[in-house]
Amino acid sequence: MRHYSLTAPAKINLHLEILGDRADGYHELVMVLQGIALEDRIDIYAGSTQDIHLHCEDPDMPLGSDNIAYQAAQLMCREYPEAYAQYGGLEINIEKNIPVAAGLAGGSADAAAVLVGINLLWKLGLTQPELQTLASQLGSDIAFCLEGGTALALGRGEQLNALEGLEDLAVILAKHQNLYVSTAWAYKTYRQQFEQTYFQQPENIAAQTKQVHSADLVSAIAQQDYPKIGQFLYNNLEKVVFPAHPQVEALKLVFQKESEVLGTIMSGSGPTVFALCRSQAVAEQVIKSVQSKLNDSTVNFWLTKLSTHGIQVH
Ligand code: C5P
Repeated sequence: MRHYSLTAPAKINLHLEILGDRADGYHELVMVLQGIALEDRIDIYAGSTQDIHLHCEDPDMPLGSDNIAYQAAQLMCREYPEAYAQYGGLEINIEKNIPVAAGLAGGSADAAAVLVGINLLWKLGLTQPELQTLASQLGSDIAFCLEGGTALALGRGEQLNALEGLEDLAVILAKHQNLYVSTAWAYKTYRQQFEQTYFQQPENIAAQTKQVHSADLVSAIAQQDYPKIGQFLYNNLEKVVFPAHPQVEALKLVFQKESEVLGTIMSGSGPTVFALCRSQAVAEQVIKSVQSKLNDSTVNFWLTKLSTHGIQVH
């Protein structure tokens, strides 16, 4: 049976800044997004019926229309009814390595892989910009997941400007096992608490986009200045997630005390905290030290590295 195997990398936010409200109910953002080498594997087969079936061994994964990867398949069936009629339904298997609801865009990465896989399976010949447009209809960071690497993301997060690629720094991810944060909750709570700081006029938002804190980070990236990259990491959503879940802030504080850590913040809407280190060997030592200081068996650690690519076909 014809099928495609794809890998879908997770992302971290090196910068996440909320500028204001948007007419569509989302937030106007400035982000620096960075792909990492922790990847899900997605296998897509033509089905024997017209149905879409999602399979995954991870019990945390919803398998129906509340899964964004399923929604990606539904979108393709709606957009390309002739190909859907010709090739039939879809069997999609997801091997989950990226933790779920962790601020690492695991669901978005799977959805991006489904778009690429169906494009190949149905021989649609869609270009990257066409895939980007489909991705933006589904979610704010799916367009980035297609491309990966390092990018400045504006608007809802779907307007991408590629930045200079970074060396493969080591990335430590740390997350409390049974702690999940809803992205919608994080943004809603931020709006409730900080709406008075929002820029109200679109022209102010445009001006602010040029001056935001990301400027320091973007120039550090251009200069490949890794200590500065670590120093300028920034995430507005820490302001709502830390008070609600103090253990996440505690994790960041422990990483901050490690002299070999270049920088550490929460990724996206959390609760994953990441720390950047020069090498895998240094990162292994940092993990050991942090584990012994925390002495908390409910915190999981992953050691990975920055990556320069998005969805790959194998
Ligand atoms: O677009 P996505 O489904 O990833 O977003 C999840 C939730 O995060 C949205 O429902 C919205 O509440 C919030 N969000 C936002 N502004 C953005 C991106 C996401 O308010 N730019």
